Amino acid sequence: MAIEITGTGRAIPFRRIGNDELAEKIDTSDEWIRSHTGIGARHIADENTACSDLALEAAKNALAMAAGFQWPAGFSGFDTFGDPAAGLSEGDRADRDKAAAEYAGTIDLILLGTATADYCGCPPTACIVQDKLGAGQAAAMDISACCTGFIYGLETAAGLLNISGERKRALVIGSEVLSRLIDWDDRSTAVLFGDGAGAAVLEKTSGASAGQDRRGLLRSILGADGSGRESLIFRRGGSRNPFKAGEVVDKPIRLEMNGQEVYYFAVKAVTMTIEKLLKQEGVTIDEVSRIVPHQANARIVQAAGKRLRIPMEKFFLNIEEYANTSAASIPIALDELNRKGELKKGNLIMTIGFGGGLTYGGNLIVW
Ligand code: UT7
Repeated sequence: MAIEITGTGRAIPFRRIGNDELAEKIDTSDEWIRSHTGIGARHIADENTACSDLALEAAKNALAMAAGFQWPAGFSGFDTFGDPAAGLSEGDRADRDKAAAEYAGTIDLILLGTATADYCGCPPTACIVQDKLGAGQAAAMDISACCTGFIYGLETAAGLLNISGERKRALVIGSEVLSRLIDWDDRSTAVLFGDGAGAAVLEKTSGASAGQDRRGLLRSILGADGSGRESLIFRRGGSRNPFKAGEVVDKPIRLEMNGQEVYYFAVKAVTMTIEKLLKQEGVTIDEVSRIVPHQANARIVQAAGKRLRIPMEKFFLNIEEYANTSAASIPIALDELNRKGELKKGNLIMTIGFGGGLTYGGNLIVW
């Protein structure tokens, strides 16, 4: 028995803000952002769009793919959200929704990684998606592991599918609307983040889980270093620092970040996780077709690649277009590669992530 990814999807808000447009509002420049991060643009959700809306759209695309939906020629999965003129026609959208709804009824579990849930803790955003998908048989919960949420989600879903013979299919989603929770006047964070969602359908199949023909999720590494919890933090709004009656709030809840601390942690975490995954699985880097890292900063990936002497071509980077979409970045990247036909059956794929917590981890998957 193997646990395989049988469908991927993504949803990217239509509104795109390039570095130059941002530089008209805050004291920054395209040159600084590109040279320090590799970011060229970010996509931002409109004011009516929350985490569950993007998650729902990405989930539908993943479910329809798993159901074998025939995508119209030229559909790349891009710009499917908020722009009626792009992506799917009305008829194709209705067909996609039908295919997704039928498949949603067979899903046993929905896990949604996010740091920007629709509501503060309750209800879980996964439950909103479960309802809107019509996935009445599915258990649903959020995974709170920040940017590492999708990696934690895959391993958690695989564990829950393995434990019970009854559960056959899971939907793992990463979705974020970070634009709503960053301080647009703080140039050290405002330039880094974007909105989006990515999703994957995981299924128990009759494929082998070991040996030459092994398939699906082979192993994961999950880790955390809670001593770094203040390096990336929403200080207000939770039970530690709730808003009080009568309090005048001059700034909305916003992400605070110690960029350098996160940077050093990230380079160490990426390097260590790649080495560990290879060693534990007994494979060499040459056997890995693609590494799909969390898209936080191209320099983090370059530094880790240099330390391990891994050529940059092995890493897939789309940070230039989407910026850092936190828990969504890895499933968005997987879907982009998948829809381009760059993930072939039998390819060994590695995901690597890190983020608030501080958390880190990685998965090894035979596509
Ligand atoms: O998903 C995980 C979340 N976060 C991360 O992964 C972030 C990890 N950290 C980083 O990627 C990097 O630390 C940053 C990209 C955030 C910052 O890069 P850096 O090279 O560490 O810059 P710095 O903070 O040391 O700042 C260097 C200079 C400062 O000016 P002075 O003091 O040297 O005059 C900053 O004020 O760059 C200035 N600066 C900017 N200038 C133009 C900081 N942000 C900006 C900006 N535009 N947006």
